[in-house]
Amino acid sequence: MAWFKRRQHVAVAEAPAVSGRRMFSFGGRRHLADAPYVLPKDMGEIKRLDFQHFLLRNGLQGNYAAPVNQPQSVLDVGCGTGRWAMEMAVLFPQANVVGVDLVPTEEVTYGYGLERRPDNYVFVQGNILEGLPFADTNFDLVHQRLLVAALPAARWPGVVSELVRVTRPGGWVELAECGVPVAGGPGFTALWASWIELCQRRGIDFACGHTIGDKLKAAGLADVHLRQVNFPMGRYGGRVGVASATDCLAVGKALRAGVIGMGIYTESDYDRIYAQAEHEFKQTRGKGYLPFYVACGRRVI
Ligand SMILES: C[S@@+](CC[C@H](N)C(=O)[O-])C[C@H]1O[C@@H](n2cnc3c(N)ncnc32)[C@H](O)[C@@H]1O
Repeated sequence: MAWFKRRQHVAVAEAPAVSGRRMFSFGGRRHLADAPYVLPKDMGEIKRLDFQHFLLRNGLQGNYAAPVNQPQSVLDVGCGTGRWAMEMAVLFPQANVVGVDLVPTEEVTYGYGLERRPDNYVFVQGNILEGLPFADTNFDLVHQRLLVAALPAARWPGVVSELVRVTRPGGWVELAECGVPVAGGPGFTALWASWIELCQRRGIDFACGHTIGDKLKAAGLADVHLRQVNFPMGRYGGRVGVASATDCLAVGKALRAGVIGMGIYTESDYDRIYAQAEHEFKQTRGKGYLPFYVACGRRVI
């Protein structure tokens, strides 16, 4: 926890442990104590992840890209709220669906097509950086979405190898990550750059989303396919643009204490670029967008 002890201007306090994992709070948000992951683990973040899930499902027109046919077993690594995995369990009632995360989600949002926890879904506590608690060749589809702010750059090859290890020959590994905003206004661009810097200080490359296809190829997967979907950011992009901007501003709030605590920006400078980004997102003209990448590859042997 040395990194958070170095924090300035932000009150840091130990919080009650969750499922055996140490937690602490700073900037009014609860975080995991012993993980590189930069985002909070609290109710505010659960709500953001649900909102983001609906945004992605709508924008990508579905929950997955791999050409799987009636899978018998599906794994979601870093499952967060479990919403993606539970929707897959409803879609594939014959499959056993497993979600893995550092801690279980304390509250699940039902509704919007998911009325209760499906019987064929189970949560397993685990840490991809320490190896998955499953035998080799166990799953038909292994999915990992939005761990770009959680995995140190040097650990990616080992993480992808671990995903491949638990995939059966003929099965698919799928990664989904955001990229770096393009053609956004100066406030939005500066805000995002501060998150890249925050992650970099923990050895995390927050700008590596576009490389997920290469990561699957490097792990020896075949038939690797990379898809890019651009999400407009701000009012000019209609409902999707407003929703993407709302999600982005919620990330801005979630990472505020981290950026300030690391001395990347002062409170007033961070709040200034945040307000500037908010103003930019309200413009009816614009061209800024956030690329989102989905890559899948097939295990051959
Ligand atoms: C940004 S959230 C994405 C959640 C979910 N995949 C989604 O798309 O809604 C990242 C998730 O990864 C989890 N996580 C971070 N580091 C992890 C690790 N080393 N092993 C397993 N899960 C991890 C976090 O607890 C969090 O729930």
